[in-house]
Amino acid sequence: MLFSNTGVTAPIERTQLSGTLFAIHEVNAAGGINGRELVPVLYDPQSDAVQYASLAERLILNDDVNVIFGCYMSSTRKAVLPIVEKWNRLLFYPTIYEGFEFSNNVIYTGAAPNQNSVQLADFMTLNFGSRVYLVGSNYIYPFESNRIMTDLVEQRNGKTVGKRYLPLTAGYEEFTSVVSDIRKQQPDFIFSTVVGESTQHLYRAYAEAGLNPKEMPIASLTTCEAEIKAMGAEYAAGHYTAAPYFQSIDSDTNRRVLDLYKEFMGGEVVTNMCWEAAYFQVHMFANAMRQSGTDQVEALLPELLGAEFQAPQGRVRIDPATHHTCLYPRIGRANSKGQFTIVREAKRPVHPDPYLVTYSLGDWTTQIDTLDL
Ligand code: ACM
Repeated sequence: MLFSNTGVTAPIERTQLSGTLFAIHEVNAAGGINGRELVPVLYDPQSDAVQYASLAERLILNDDVNVIFGCYMSSTRKAVLPIVEKWNRLLFYPTIYEGFEFSNNVIYTGAAPNQNSVQLADFMTLNFGSRVYLVGSNYIYPFESNRIMTDLVEQRNGKTVGKRYLPLTAGYEEFTSVVSDIRKQQPDFIFSTVVGESTQHLYRAYAEAGLNPKEMPIASLTTCEAEIKAMGAEYAAGHYTAAPYFQSIDSDTNRRVLDLYKEFMGGEVVTNMCWEAAYFQVHMFANAMRQSGTDQVEALLPELLGAEFQAPQGRVRIDPATHHTCLYPRIGRANSKGQFTIVREAKRPVHPDPYLVTYSLGDWTTQIDTLDL
């Protein structure tokens, strides 16, 4: 496992680590894999891409690991990808990302842009307008995600009225200058691709400037329950996030898994989309390994591709053509409890289209996937 316990994205990656360990606990409690226990080997790559690459190689060469669960920032996935390809191992990546990637050695269980950006652009332009201000952290995911958002708002005759990138370690002061520019430009909404610990500074600087989310909300794909916990619910309330999973999903599976997770953690829990993907991908791996009897990539892939699982967000499926996952787009508005009120959701899973070949803005019903519901 390669999830960071230190560094700028530690708060969200710790939830991915917990989701992974919780699923491993469940697999082992149910008899393991054909009677054998799963044993986690974990390192802390400290939110640093270079460390991700070297620790991935150490897992493979020193620890004899065939399957790696890990990575949050796309820069870290891009660092691990050539390593798993070189040694022909498998990476399970439980994070939303910018798309435009395929590797035979990766299974992608977070949303691709046609499963979150498209729905967020649709919702925000219809409800608030199509003049957007882009603010992000300074690395590949925000660059690419903004390129896609710009294309999408232009389809609604919108335009980008400002664009700022800040270092991953940016502090409150740096965000106050962005927020004063936002106030000057008066966009209809702000699209944030800020990640990690600096997320709280954006939302706080916004609130301290007296801006009103009812008029000019922040829309994001990365601000989830973990970031809201770090900033305080009052700063996030009224802003929007698109994600396949929110803790507030009112379903039997989500309630059951949350109860078991509370028991595992020994108290109240705060979950999020990255936790959920980290959780269900371990179960999908375990089911595949039970069938194949080995964790060699050539034997696992035929069992994984096309596999389905009843996840907390709904029944998911790994698409054989893209190695991405059929997921349920949702839009949530952050509320005063630090949770999301779900304001729109797809009733059927949306097929992944990581290269944005066939998506259609505003249509939440095409490209649905047919699962055994
Ligand atoms: C990300 O970097 N994929 C959030």
